[in-house]
Amino acid sequence: MRTAALEAAEAGVRPRRFVAIASALAAVVGLAAASLAACSGAAETGRVAPPASQTTTTRASCTHRPDACTTRQAADAAGVTLGTAVAASHLDQADYRRTLLETFNSITPENELKWSSIHPTPDTWNFGPADQIVDFAQANDLQVKGHNLIWDQKVIGSTPDWVLRIDDPAELRRVIRDHITTVMHRYRGKVDRWDVVNEPLDTVGSGLYDNHFRHVLGDDYVAEMFRIAHEADPEAHLFLNEAAVEYQPAKAGALIALVKRLVDEGTPIDGVGVQGHLISGSVEPGVLRTLFDELRSLGVAVAITELDIPTSSDARPLDAQATVYGQVLAECLDASCREVTTWGFTDRYTWIDDFLGPGRAPLPFDRSYRPKSALNAIRDELLLHQNGN
Ligand code: G3I
Repeated sequence: MRTAALEAAEAGVRPRRFVAIASALAAVVGLAAASLAACSGAAETGRVAPPASQTTTTRASCTHRPDACTTRQAADAAGVTLGTAVAASHLDQADYRRTLLETFNSITPENELKWSSIHPTPDTWNFGPADQIVDFAQANDLQVKGHNLIWDQKVIGSTPDWVLRIDDPAELRRVIRDHITTVMHRYRGKVDRWDVVNEPLDTVGSGLYDNHFRHVLGDDYVAEMFRIAHEADPEAHLFLNEAAVEYQPAKAGALIALVKRLVDEGTPIDGVGVQGHLISGSVEPGVLRTLFDELRSLGVAVAITELDIPTSSDARPLDAQATVYGQVLAECLDASCREVTTWGFTDRYTWIDDFLGPGRAPLPFDRSYRPKSALNAIRDELLLHQNGN
């Protein structure tokens, strides 16, 4: 399926609008009013960041008085990693920090660890913003997921030009090893899991994406990146992260086949992240559950890693959005998935505004940090899954 939007995206006409299939889907999704839904969600009173020693108390209070526990406590009580993408540049805002700390027990730097951000030229390392996020996590007892070590999407600039100019396989291998090792060593013991390879498959289709790494190193590059990452930090959990498999059956099949091959070859891969950018505002019931079950049967962990759900033209857009949030959580948790990460948390800051235009309000808090029905739906599923049920 090729569309004008897809061709424009690939040609770089709208360079930030790069999940091309999403452009096609976006055409059938109407803009929705972003009215605020009432929500008895997260208590908004001060910071709540229970240390591990309070887990028993947290579990008890969430069981007996669910209204009194924050979403973060509900996640802790359910044994679920509830994460969100964050930007270092927003951490100086009190509302941002407070909402984040009351709601989530894990964070993912949205852009700060990407190769183009942290290592923009051969001799320049820009650790500052990533350090800021990791330090914040350490100070507030949050897990950190590293995103990402290897990602080359032509129209994004996710890999810096100096790397894209290296055509000699031996030199590219040397540079990659140096990059992965330097980054993973710096955050060893602080970043517990990494997206080693991001989006290795074709945006639309069912093959390996023909990126620079594949072009120079061959199809085995995916396994090679995992081996390098495992050598750099044997303790870290290593993930492959993929987009748009929720609504492309052929691509989902390709993901399963790729992961099966990696596992069969003994590649040190621990998990698969399904991003969950549900651009059309929905996903066919049962699709995620089936996909997760199949991936789990290969012996890898599964996670939702970049969830956001733009509102659609539904008559009650925020209720419809909440229903889909609840559905995604339920299917994920039912399939023994133990991580759900949203791609940001407030509609004030979301890449969807650039990608689809403003007003699609894809996240669980509105622009003023007020919880939406979507947050209630997340909480309800966490409370249902307390004690690993
Ligand atoms: O920081 C600069 C700023 O200084 C400059 O003025 C501005 C001008 O456009 O650009 C800013 O950088 C932008 C950055 O986001 C921060 O806003 C980059 O141009 C822009 O390309 C970058 O987009 C990010 C995109 O990945 C590409 O890296 C999005 O924020 C981020 O949400 C998005 O995240 C991706 C995941 O990594 C992988 N899966 C899909 C997901 C959604 O697109």
